[in-house]
Amino acid sequence: MTKNPTTGAQPITFHPSGNAVGKPGTPYLTNCWYAAALSREVQGEDMLARQLLDTSVLLYRKADGEPVALHDRCPHRFVPLSKGKRDGDDVVCAYHALRFDCTGQCTHNPHGKQVIPAAAKVRSFPLLEKWGFIWIWMGNEPADASKLPDFGELDNGPASGIGHTYMPMKANFELIIDNVMDLSHVDHVHGEIISTRGQLTPQIPPVKEENKTVNVRWEWAQTPPMGIFAPFMQKPEESARHFVSVTWYAPATIQLTIGATQDDSAGLTLDQTVGQYDLHTCTPANANETHYWFATRRNHNVDDEGFNQFKIDAMHNAFVDEDGPIIEAVQREMNTSDFFSLNPVLITSDAAPVRVRRLLKQMIEKEAEKLASGG
Ligand code: FES
Ligand SMILES: [Fe+2]
Repeated sequence: MTKNPTTGAQPITFHPSGNAVGKPGTPYLTNCWYAAALSREVQGEDMLARQLLDTSVLLYRKADGEPVALHDRCPHRFVPLSKGKRDGDDVVCAYHALRFDCTGQCTHNPHGKQVIPAAAKVRSFPLLEKWGFIWIWMGNEPADASKLPDFGELDNGPASGIGHTYMPMKANFELIIDNVMDLSHVDHVHGEIISTRGQLTPQIPPVKEENKTVNVRWEWAQTPPMGIFAPFMQKPEESARHFVSVTWYAPATIQLTIGATQDDSAGLTLDQTVGQYDLHTCTPANANETHYWFATRRNHNVDDEGFNQFKIDAMHNAFVDEDGPIIEAVQREMNTSDFFSLNPVLITSDAAPVRVRRLLKQMIEKEAEKLASGG
């Protein structure tokens, strides 16, 4: 490793988590895209401070609307840059007023002879803005846009047919992934709006692993139909066939499609049912806290803005008030223990979440090996 010729210090090597303070080891996959924020969370001249993968990140928009992400730490005395103020597309530190541009380069030092030290630079993170989300790349390899899966179905229809919401949780992100990959909890945890009337629990759904994704799918009939769909059925009191298909994409995004139909000839697909296309995406703030976002695009009553708000509020409340307390209680009980080290009892419904845990672990280990070998 080459020493800095001026200070003699070792140069800062960016930890793969994006954390420039050089913490050893990372529990995260890093050469991939995580959600950093909803597009609407980063607006105007505001600066959003958010911890992502143990790293303080500052998010803001340039005057032309393009989002920017910088390590939220001034390299002088380590004040979060988010405590400072905007100067056009630049940020001025709150402590001694070093100014940084949106690439992280210091562009002004008001002190002494105004020399800008060579090391006065903060890391900037590549971003992509798609489907109402800002996605961030925090790994050591160059950002690869092709590694963001295509969730373009979220754009398919009017603004009044899609809702987004943010649900911070005091739990490790893998507990949230477990929860969505195993929907057998639905009838035990949730209320009327997504009840399957006991139909899901007895099933052993097929689980498929391909191209580093894991899919699990349930099909069933229930009377009356699921609460979120019944009002849009021809016969809201009678039986309807339902399906839900849930696919995990590394590192922490789950795409869920669900629908119901009373037409015997209809296929169980989104375009032949009354249904919705959802995204659950998680980004670890740290080992014990997770940013959790949900987006839902429905294919019925799409022009009704009032219903849109009602629907996203109902889904938000179901996750926050019903899943949230259970997941957070699990976190408190497990504390920082590794899930498998506690010898959990496994039942049939664990097949998909366990497959995801194992696949993600393999991917993290492979990334760590590559990094250790200098690749
Ligand atoms: S801490 Fe930022 S300029 Fe001193
Ligand atoms: Fe749930």
